[in-house]
Amino acid sequence: MSDVSISRLNGVLAITLARPHKKNALTAAMYEAMIAGLDEAESDETIAAVLIKGSGGVFTAGNDIADFLAAAEGGAADMAAFRFIRRIASFGKPIIAAIEGPAIGIGSSMCPHCDFLYAAPGAQFAMPFVKLGILPEGASSLLIPQKFGARAGEMLLLGEAFSAEAAAAMGFITAVVPAESLYAHAQEKGEALARLPRKSLLAARALMRADQADVLARIDEEGRQIQAMLASPEAIAAFKAFMARGKG
Ligand code: COA
Repeated sequence: MSDVSISRLNGVLAITLARPHKKNALTAAMYEAMIAGLDEAESDETIAAVLIKGSGGVFTAGNDIADFLAAAEGGAADMAAFRFIRRIASFGKPIIAAIEGPAIGIGSSMCPHCDFLYAAPGAQFAMPFVKLGILPEGASSLLIPQKFGARAGEMLLLGEAFSAEAAAAMGFITAVVPAESLYAHAQEKGEALARLPRKSLLAARALMRADQADVLARIDEEGRQIQAMLASPEAIAAFKAFMARGKG
């Protein structure tokens, strides 16, 4: 059971994160299922766009911290998270994200790879990588300073959380949409994309991503450095502190 479901409607393939009791924290199996969903969407000519969404009022609490700890203690050489972010960055069709509740860690760092981002008013974004003793991933160390300039330090170094309204004001997301119409709105945008001349749509989008080689190179560099830092005493202490909270 991968806690990710894939569905299709009117040219839109939806990837739904469905592990609500753990705030949709992403395990290796969930990344693998998301990669499989993207592969399927790319090769299927009936699919024009992908919609990524959470469930249970949450987008995702980011990488499963128990998995981080296991990787740190077990010296894992391969992390599915890096393969997922590489896949989303090289994906060739439009991606729509519909965000409710927390979008933490990779939940935020995947946002610059999406083409349309709609968030409910209670959504909250944060990239607390440095606080956890690791480093920004998903090419966020390249894209956040490029796109958000003087705000990048608060977002990436201090890992400060920001609201849906703040995200919309700075162009981190496309728009704030009422929670009750969020998923329908995102689906409608996907269907609007499906009605466009497909060749023009995909070629225009490719032209809008001229920096893809730099983005992929940065993902690999971040991945190398994070692998080396995961087993540091600071990172292990931060992971253990999260896992132990509320239990004392
Ligand atoms: N990894 C593993 N488990 C997680 C998790 C994560 N990233 N985020 C939440 N969970 C688990 C909690 O341990 C808890 O499990 P339990 O019920 O077995 O104890 C359950 O999900 C519910 O989380 P809880 O923290 O009680 O919910 P909340 O509504 O009070 O807070 C968040 C929600 C998302 C704000 C909070 O869980 C959080 O900050 N998570 C970590 C975010 C993070 O640092 N992610 C990594 C970024 S790299």
